[in-house]
Amino acid sequence: MQIKSIQLTNIGRFSNLTVPLASKADNNTNITVIVGNNGSGKTTVLQALTTALSWFVARLRREKGNGSPIAESNIKNGQNEGNIYLHASNEENDYRWSILKTNKGRISSTKSNLSQATGLAAPYRQALTADNETSLPLVCFYSVQRYVDDISVKLTGKQQFDQFDGFEKTGASFQRFFA
Ligand SMILES: Nc1ncnc2c1ncn2[C@@H]1O[C@H](COP(=O)(O)OP(=O)(O)O)[C@@H](O)[C@H]1O
Ligand SMILES: [Mg+2]
Repeated sequence: MQIKSIQLTNIGRFSNLTVPLASKADNNTNITVIVGNNGSGKTTVLQALTTALSWFVARLRREKGNGSPIAESNIKNGQNEGNIYLHASNEENDYRWSILKTNKGRISSTKSNLSQATGLAAPYRQALTADNETSLPLVCFYSVQRYVDDISVKLTGKQQFDQFDGFEKTGASFQRFFA
């Protein structure tokens, strides 16, 4: 699975922003680094990716599962609605889904379209049904609280994890990730 791009319309400080992710036609790397001054919108982009991918994760769990909505505070000031549009792919197909959030008292111009998030999740659910050991794509977002100072390297407790332990509702803690 690969995320090709994310597009934000009236999210945070952005009216319209498209961020293509690695790899690109002219660069075969698989790492994307986002660099910018404070307040330039890096966290906004990562948070939007988290929101968009939470729907994929929810639909891995359940065919009709719900991911996270866009927070009203993330709709660009003065705008009626904000939209996050994700373009992903696997070996066979392209998948696009969008999440819309409309401010209270405003009329929506369109609606969220999540059917292709379900479509991307379906083959993984099929594989997991057929084989308990199937690997799932691991989707993680760690904020600035990620640090290892106070994490013991001596592991205690649960040593064998289920694939879905990587996808706890608010994300697995960094401590659990480290474990
Ligand atoms: N709803 C909003 N409408 C307009 N601007 C916003 C909104 N929410 C956040 N911002 C602006 O976005 C910027 C913060 O972006 P952020 O993603 O936190 O930047 P970075 O992570 O690069 O420091 C600030 O300048 C803030 O004023
Ligand atoms: Mg930030």
